[in-house]
Amino acid sequence: MGRLWIWIWICLSSVPPFLGCQPGDPSFPSPPKDILSSPEAQRAGEGVFLKHCAICHGAEGHGDGLQAINLEPRPADLRNLRGVRAEPGYWFFRIKEGGKKEPLARLHSAMPSWGDHLSDQQIWEVVAYLKSLVAGQA
Ligand code: HEC
Repeated sequence: MGRLWIWIWICLSSVPPFLGCQPGDPSFPSPPKDILSSPEAQRAGEGVFLKHCAICHGAEGHGDGLQAINLEPRPADLRNLRGVRAEPGYWFFRIKEGGKKEPLARLHSAMPSWGDHLSDQQIWEVVAYLKSLVAGQA
């Protein structure tokens, strides 16, 4: 296989997603099939969220956790995000990378990067839980 084909293959398979085809136009990863609607995944994600995230984001994701008052920028209301910030793939990326990537890096956001602590599976489970919160199911 020539180099060109390898490059095309990397682009098409979108692995790794952030080195993808167009720098500056990051494509966010797609969730594994059915995970977002899985009640088991949502339940597992709820456990992770309450343990690690609620302190800042609030038990219900409104951005009103105990720590939130000390943070600048304050955590947003995760249940009222718009556009790309309401996309599961963006949440996955944001949870994994935390505040060290733009646009949060510029703001000196306190959002930790969870990639070293949580598996991709666990991150998708939290995303599934957040989705159920937004849908008013949890
Ligand atoms: C130390 C406090 C803190 C903890 C703990 C924390 N976050 Fe955050 N998070 C923030 C801040 C601050 C931001 C950036 C401000 C914002 O949301 O706009 C943020 C941003 C986010 C965003 C992006 C929202 C957006 O506005 O674009 C998501 C999604 C998110 N956090 C999910 C989580 C999840 C899931 C966990 C637990 C695994 C977690 N956070 C733990 C403080 C925290």
